[in-house]
Amino acid sequence: MKYLFGNWKMNQTISLIDEFSKNFKKQKLPKDVKFAIAVPFPYVQYLQKKLRKNCEIGVQNVCFAEKGAYTGEISVNMLNDLGVNFCLVGHSERRQIFKETNEQINKKIQLLLSANITPVLCVGETLKELKANKTEEVLKNQLNQCLLNLQGDTNKIVIAYEPVWAIGTGKTATAKDVQKNIKFIKKHLIKIMGNTGKCIKVLYGGSVKPENAFELLNNETVDGALVGGASLSAETFVNIGKQLSGVN
Ligand code: 13P
Repeated sequence: MKYLFGNWKMNQTISLIDEFSKNFKKQKLPKDVKFAIAVPFPYVQYLQKKLRKNCEIGVQNVCFAEKGAYTGEISVNMLNDLGVNFCLVGHSERRQIFKETNEQINKKIQLLLSANITPVLCVGETLKELKANKTEEVLKNQLNQCLLNLQGDTNKIVIAYEPVWAIGTGKTATAKDVQKNIKFIKKHLIKIMGNTGKCIKVLYGGSVKPENAFELLNNETVDGALVGGASLSAETFVNIGKQLSGVN
């Protein structure tokens, strides 16, 4: 089973969502691909009603604290009340714009696991780190710190390898580098988590579109994709899903 996660970021409106849902339902979905979209909080329940049968609905963030005086934040219990299936954590936009740290990300993952919600942890190097040949070091540090001392059902964690320089830029890592870095992540997961590490799905994200999806994703190393811009249209999103189909 391959995974296709969309990340709508701070996009869409009710009328665009209605159009997306109408078009999504018209498509024939491949049976061996699991579709999921991380949507803005206000649209969770609306989309659950519209798409629940064929597409899991998740969110893009959660607070690192359980409850209390955190104006503007959303707690893991609130996500549970909504019946959210998964939550992105550590996206590079949150790390860079909102100065989120690995320590906070670690707390978020622990809270999500306790609430039985799948954490989708994003990791990846910046252009500067790529140029300095530091990709593996960065990935290792992010995984070590974000996955430190976790309790609970850790095998439900999903990792998304998203090179920061490939996000929203139209540039992608080469298929060879994507596989090399995902193999490195998988090996490191086994090192730090033992047998549990073997169960963890690792996706690729960064400028995935129908034109490059087959080459980047249709192999046994990459377990799926996390797609930003191309997930805003039902046709392109499902088209990417079709190209993931048929591998395992
Ligand atoms: P793009 O697919 O728009 O490059 O975004 C990737 C991303 O950030 C998904 O989380």
